[in-house]
Amino acid sequence: MNEDQRLGRLGNTQESTDSTDKPKKDYSKYFDFTNAKVISEEENKKIIRIAGREISIYDQPDYKQGKRRGKEDVQVLRPDSLIPEEMKGIGNGKKYLIRTYGCQMNTHDSENMAGLLAEMGFEPTEETTEADVILLNTCAIRENAENKVFGEIGHLKTLKVERPELIVGVCGCMSQEENVVNRIMQKHQHIDLIFGTHNIHRLPELLKNALYGKEMVVEVWSKEGDIVENMPRARQGKTLAWVNIMYGCDKFCTYCIVPYTRGKERSRLPEDIIAEVRDLARKGYKEITLLGQNVNAYGKDLEGVKYGLGDLMDEIHKIDIPRVRFTTSHPRDFDDHLIQVLSKGGNLVEHIHLPVQHGNSEILKLMARKYTREQYVELAHKIKMAIPNASFTTDIIVGFPNETEEQFEETLSLIREIEFDSAFTYIYSPREGTPAAKMKDNVPMEVKRERLGRLNTLVNEISAKKNLEYQDQIVEVLVEGESKKNPDVLAGRTRTNRLVNFRAPKSVIGEIVYIKVTEAKTWSLNGEMVETAEVNR
Ligand code: 5AD
Ligand code: SF4
Repeated sequence: MNEDQRLGRLGNTQESTDSTDKPKKDYSKYFDFTNAKVISEEENKKIIRIAGREISIYDQPDYKQGKRRGKEDVQVLRPDSLIPEEMKGIGNGKKYLIRTYGCQMNTHDSENMAGLLAEMGFEPTEETTEADVILLNTCAIRENAENKVFGEIGHLKTLKVERPELIVGVCGCMSQEENVVNRIMQKHQHIDLIFGTHNIHRLPELLKNALYGKEMVVEVWSKEGDIVENMPRARQGKTLAWVNIMYGCDKFCTYCIVPYTRGKERSRLPEDIIAEVRDLARKGYKEITLLGQNVNAYGKDLEGVKYGLGDLMDEIHKIDIPRVRFTTSHPRDFDDHLIQVLSKGGNLVEHIHLPVQHGNSEILKLMARKYTREQYVELAHKIKMAIPNASFTTDIIVGFPNETEEQFEETLSLIREIEFDSAFTYIYSPREGTPAAKMKDNVPMEVKRERLGRLNTLVNEISAKKNLEYQDQIVEVLVEGESKKNPDVLAGRTRTNRLVNFRAPKSVIGEIVYIKVTEAKTWSLNGEMVETAEVNR
């Protein structure tokens, strides 16, 4: 799957090859600081010089620390303002561009950064040549995501040479990786600012240091900090909104970098989430997506209360907002109370994204997913019984170290058994610092690619078959905007997350309309608008 698909903005499915057949990178050279000179060292700031560029390091990523799960309480901070006095108005007449890679969490983080920049007076632009500040909000989930960012970092060098006053920053998950920060400090000295996922609220302060000093500014907290409420937010649209319900992940699946880059699980307080949802409803938003790396663990860390995702969804169910989604789920924590609440329907839409990752129990064990194939199947059936019209989607990894042909075929048989409406499919990509990266792997890349191809063929076949069930049906569609392929056509989604294309006046953008499906394709449906609302699905 590509980024647009991950963001749920385009056609349903997959397609993701990786470049893991290249020789394994030797990162050790990025840790060789024999050419670095320490200029000064204070308690909370160290200045070093590498190849003529001075670098102020306030904090650097440290994997060991990032991995630690301490018992210390997470505080909720409610600062009145995050903008230092001297930064107010600093952006007047200036523009910013944030390029976002990866998942919805990053998209939403970018909205927070945009909010902070807007409070300083900056305006958005899509043109790199117009921008005074460019931020790359990066993704570390697979190697190809990282390669894209390094490509972009390289391109921006020409711009920075032409306009030295331009500020170029790198943030997001890649900044949380030791080797990435070291590589940038050593090899990409046109970068002015590096900050991580835990200190986004410090952007104004860090930008001040980057603007007023000549050094590259590095501040990456290895340990997650507190939860910061009241962050200014520049949401991307007026119809769909992301709402963070929790941060971090404690699952430590062996292939996954997220627990290291996003820190431990921290839930926002229910009252803060509900206030935000009410506010979005008042502002006329039609759909919200509750966000977290592992939303089913919501509430586990809340002191002194037994309150989980089911309780939260039950409260949000009563709020007058037409559609509520949530992502991403982990099967292990998907409990009966949540299923019972979801079966109430109403604004809780009939779409469950439940990553399975693999169809073979031995591989699931090696992945540390903490469920077997049989347990997953049982859960899926339980959900399907409770919510009969639900569409069911998943994430799959092929080519995990030493995956045999038989084990891979169990993934295929699981896809047939569950009949997923669609699936995001990936070739396993080793991530430095994770346990799986140390596992020996004897499956050649051609075999992994060939397996991905077979998997995608099957997933597409089932998607097409499932879409056929929509033929001639009337569906409820929330209109998101013009279709990416043809501005004369509008695009929206059903409650079950099917992409629907149709012709209608632009005035219906942002509205819920009823569409009769005239053509069912593999990844989308075509249809025409109808007046009466006898919805079948
Ligand atoms: N290699 C390939 N895919 C991965 N994912 C997470 N880590 C990796 C990795 N190292 C996939 C999982 C997850 C999705 C967001 O990305 O399927 O659910
Ligand atoms: Fe990564 Fe999801 Fe596993 Fe957490 S639950 S480690 S985010 S795959």
